[in-house]
Amino acid sequence: MKVKSIEHIGIAVEDLKEAVAAYAVMGMKTVSQEEVPDEKVRVAMLPVGSTRIELLEPTSEDSAVRRFLKNRGQGIHHIALRVEDIEGACEELRAAGLRVVYDEPRVGEGGAKVNFVHPASTHGVLIELREGTSED
Ligand code: CO
Repeated sequence: MKVKSIEHIGIAVEDLKEAVAAYAVMGMKTVSQEEVPDEKVRVAMLPVGSTRIELLEPTSEDSAVRRFLKNRGQGIHHIALRVEDIEGACEELRAAGLRVVYDEPRVGEGGAKVNFVHPASTHGVLIELREGTSED
């Protein structure tokens, strides 16, 4: 599996509007917001140098991000890696015994193909794998 870069860092928040305002004070401007139905979240993207901050607010009570907020509170939720050939990467990880969350990639922010590696396999950090952003 080839990792090209850290595409973004995902931060779970209770209130997207308030979070966007707080990050703006820190000089990080939101350039896009969208709802991601597959993940049941609304996201705001804030470019920072060659990477981005992704603020995530759940849109449903059964959203994984809602569960995260209930269990752990607001904070860093995942790190997203830009990879080549996401299907091949997931196959490789499964073959090595790592827990990949979805059988097939789903549609993520910006229309990218995304999948996740479970924190149980990564020493505690949810890892998002993504392929197919505008920069690829
Ligand atoms: Co993400």
